[in-house]
Amino acid sequence: MPETVMDKLVSLAKRRGFVFQSSEIYGGLGSVWDYGPLGVELKKNIKERWWRSMVHEREDIEGLDAAILMHPKVWEASGHIAGFTDPLVDCKQCKNRFRADDPRIKGTPGQPDAQCPVCGTKGSLTIARQFNLMFKTFMGPVEEVAAVIYLRPETAQGIYVNYLNVLQSSRQKIPFGIAQIGKAFRNEITPGNFIFRTREFEQMEMQFFVKPGTEGEWFEFWRGERMKWLQGLGIRPEKLRWHQHGKDELAHYAKDAYDIEYEFPFGWQEFEGVHNRTDFDLSNHQRASGKKLEYLDAATNERFLPYVVETSAGADRTALVVLCDAYREEEVEGEKRVVLQFKPSLAPLKAAVFPLVNKDGMPELARRIYDGLRGEFNVFYDDGGSIGRRYRRQDEAGTPFGITVDGQSTQDQTVTVRDRDTLKQERVGAGQLAAYLNAKLAG
Ligand code: GAP
Repeated sequence: MPETVMDKLVSLAKRRGFVFQSSEIYGGLGSVWDYGPLGVELKKNIKERWWRSMVHEREDIEGLDAAILMHPKVWEASGHIAGFTDPLVDCKQCKNRFRADDPRIKGTPGQPDAQCPVCGTKGSLTIARQFNLMFKTFMGPVEEVAAVIYLRPETAQGIYVNYLNVLQSSRQKIPFGIAQIGKAFRNEITPGNFIFRTREFEQMEMQFFVKPGTEGEWFEFWRGERMKWLQGLGIRPEKLRWHQHGKDELAHYAKDAYDIEYEFPFGWQEFEGVHNRTDFDLSNHQRASGKKLEYLDAATNERFLPYVVETSAGADRTALVVLCDAYREEEVEGEKRVVLQFKPSLAPLKAAVFPLVNKDGMPELARRIYDGLRGEFNVFYDDGGSIGRRYRRQDEAGTPFGITVDGQSTQDQTVTVRDRDTLKQERVGAGQLAAYLNAKLAG
C-alpha cells in the first residue's frame, strides 16, 4: 500500500519528537498518545494563544481549572449517564464489537441476514446495545457501586458547577464567560486517525452565560470570533468550513450547534464547535442539587437562569489541524524537502543556531549567541553534519529561522539568518538578533 500523507505525518511526528505512541515499548496503548519535546511546545503554544485571547484580552471572561474527578451526581444531572452513549453490536462468533452504524455491516444486527464484517458469519450479530462512553473508576479503597466515579468526558461541567463561585468572587455581571483548558476522557469505540480521536485528550472550552433571549446574537458573535481566531493560527481559510448540526446530530444538551471543520488528509472533519446549550445544564444542576443558580439582575431586579453559548475546541485536534496545514513536500535546489510551515509564533523552536564549521572560533561565537537567546526564545544548537542536513532537520521540525555563524561572523559579529519558507538569507548583527526574532514572531 502506498504511504498516505497521514502515514508520513505520523512517522515525521515520531522522528522529530512531536508525538509518540503511549507505552510504545509494551506494544502501545490503543489510541493514547504522548507529546514529545516538540509536540508539547506546539500544543502549549496553541493553548496559551487560546487562553490569552479568551481570558487575558477580554474583561468579560474568567479562567478556571476544575478537577477531573467530580461528584457522580454531576453526570446524572448533566444527562451523560443516560445519554452519552454509542449503540454497539457484538459478534457472537468472533467476539468483535462494532458501532451499530459501522458501514461495513451488511443487514440488520440481531436479524439472521446480518453479516459480521470481520469473520463473515451470518446471523451472529447481536441487536444494538447502548454503551456509555465515560470511563469509570472507584474512589477510596472499596470497589463497590457506591464508590463509582467517572473521568470527565467534557470540561464544561466543571464550569457549570462553579458558575456561582466564579460569578460571586469575580464580581462579573451577565453576560460573562468562564474558560477552561483541561483533560477529558472518552472510551471511544472507533478511535483513530492519529491524535484526531483518542481516549484521553485536552479540551479548550468557554461557557458564555447570557440573558435568555439574547443567546441568538451571542451565538453568532462567538461563531465569528472563533473563525477569526482559527484564521489567526495561519490555517488556510479554504480548508475551513462550517457545518450546522441536523436534528439527528445534536448532542443531548444542544438546541443549535455548528461545527468548524477542517479538510484533513482523511476528509472534512469537525475539530471545534459552537453550541447553544440553553439553560439545559444549569436548570438540571439546580434541580438535582437543590441549590438556586439564578442570577439577579441588580439593574432590573429580574431573576433568571442564564442561557449558555459554548465554544468547545480540542487542543489535540487543533494541533493536528496545525500540523496537517503546515505539512509540505517541496523540491528545493534539486532536492526533496519536507517542511512544516508553522506560523512562527506557533513553532516549537523559534530558531536554530549553527556554527558553519567546528573550528576558527565559530563554535565559541555560536554558543555565545545561543546562550544569549535561550533566556527569551526556545532555540536549538546544532553542530552535527553538513549545514544542508542541519537545515533539513530544522525544516522538518518547523523551525522558522536558521542562524549560521560563518567566517565573516568572527570578523564583524554578523550572522546569516535563513528563512525556512523563502530560503532567503540575510545578514544580521549578532546583537540585533533578539529584536529581529521578536519582530518576526509577532502576531
Ligand atoms: N462540551 C462540548 C463537547 O465536549 P464535543 O463536540 O463532544 O463537545 C468538543 O467535543 C471538541 O473536543 C471536539 O470538537 C474535538 O475537538 C474534541 N474531542 C472530542 N472528542 C475527542 C476525542 N475522542 N479525541 C480528541 N478530541 C476530541
